[in-house]
Amino acid sequence: MHTESTTQSKTTEILDKQQKYLMPNHLLYYTEPLPLERGDGMYVWDVEGKKYLDFFGGILTTSVGHNRPEVNQAVQEQTEKLIHSSTLYPNEAHVDLAEKIAALAPGKLQMSYFTPSGTDADETAVFLAQLHTGRQEIIALRHGYSGRSAIGMSLTGQHTWRIGGTHIAGIKHALNPYCFRCPLKMTYPSCGVACAQDIEDTIKTTTSGKIAAFIAEPIQGVGGFITPPPEYFKIVSEIIKHYGGLFIADEVQTGFGRTGDKWFGIEHWGVEPDIMTMAKSIANGFPLGNCIATPEVAESTRGAGLTISTFGGNPVACAASLATISVLEEEADPQHVAKVGKLLRSGLEKLQEKYLVIGEVRGMGLMQGLELVKDRTSKEPSPQATAQLFEATRELGLLIGKGGLNGNVIRITPPMTATEEDVVVALDLLDKAFQKVKI
Ligand SMILES: Cc1ncc(COP(=O)(O)O)c(C=O)c1O
Repeated sequence: MHTESTTQSKTTEILDKQQKYLMPNHLLYYTEPLPLERGDGMYVWDVEGKKYLDFFGGILTTSVGHNRPEVNQAVQEQTEKLIHSSTLYPNEAHVDLAEKIAALAPGKLQMSYFTPSGTDADETAVFLAQLHTGRQEIIALRHGYSGRSAIGMSLTGQHTWRIGGTHIAGIKHALNPYCFRCPLKMTYPSCGVACAQDIEDTIKTTTSGKIAAFIAEPIQGVGGFITPPPEYFKIVSEIIKHYGGLFIADEVQTGFGRTGDKWFGIEHWGVEPDIMTMAKSIANGFPLGNCIATPEVAESTRGAGLTISTFGGNPVACAASLATISVLEEEADPQHVAKVGKLLRSGLEKLQEKYLVIGEVRGMGLMQGLELVKDRTSKEPSPQATAQLFEATRELGLLIGKGGLNGNVIRITPPMTATEEDVVVALDLLDKAFQKVKI
């Protein structure tokens, strides 16, 4: 009884302070926000001591599970040596991580610039493409998400994430390959992937024809795990090359094996980007992003002017990342993700057979989405069902994510160290939660 009243008051205390001292635009999940206190492996506990199976991983970021001893140890060792130096001084963890990521990255990608966030990595990529080409205009995709800075919001193709109406000139948005809600009202494959051709129309009709770059997520994350057809990026990259632009793959969500079988999502489409960005899964929760480019593109920064990142390449974050990648390689490599992801996918498809509210199951590996609809004929989005499922899963002790332009896509992205047993438990909880959804 005593414990209950103490913890109850802790929740209230945290929520009160949140309201009083943190700006109201901090988006919080659940009707009654959920303060978390600790984590261990696949699980987190709230301040009341309730346990949750974490199938969202703090937005696809806790890649090797909470409180992973190898990562914690690497962090502690680095903390005892040097916490900070800035990018003005070379550091072993920094260069070792750059070497490691160059080895994992596809094609000729080799030269890194580490940043404190994914937004910063995308900004770096855009700036690099502009510097290399001497051009300014950028093509992005509708429904894409690129971060919360002025450029990040301008690249983003969803009104809900473009607060304040900021709009940087020279960024144009082409149609996205959203087969479930085809923007051209066509059907794959008879459409011939017509949406890819819209890139060319967009270049010809809304730019000077001399573009700096095209930026896209291999699978649109915040957009609701929209997964392009297999031919899409090949067609697009040829168009981009034809118009002299660079191809930027935003792997902030899809990187580090998340999509299964490959270390980076874009590899599924057989395309080699000129620039790639990453963050989230890179360091199991330590704030770190990276922009990697080919030596030829990176060379354009030489002598171009001064730049620093005070926190970019922080030695502790780099040490955490090296340890994270090592755990991924040993225990949760892309093959493991593909195997466990396959089980997750087939379980979700079974749920789709059972619950009419699931309009589509999509994604790859351990990045699976469920688009919820009022009915399958009209495909009218059901953010209401999403909200109900959210509260029900919380009640049952399962954390999941959501997204999509209409807030009607469930995002399921456990740490990549998830086992088949973890997936079976999550599927069972999801099944129970769907039973509670009334549409
Ligand atoms: C694809 C993509 N790019 C960029 C970002 C921005 O990353 P951050 O929130 O670390 O700034 C995100 C964040 O969700 C993202 O999903």
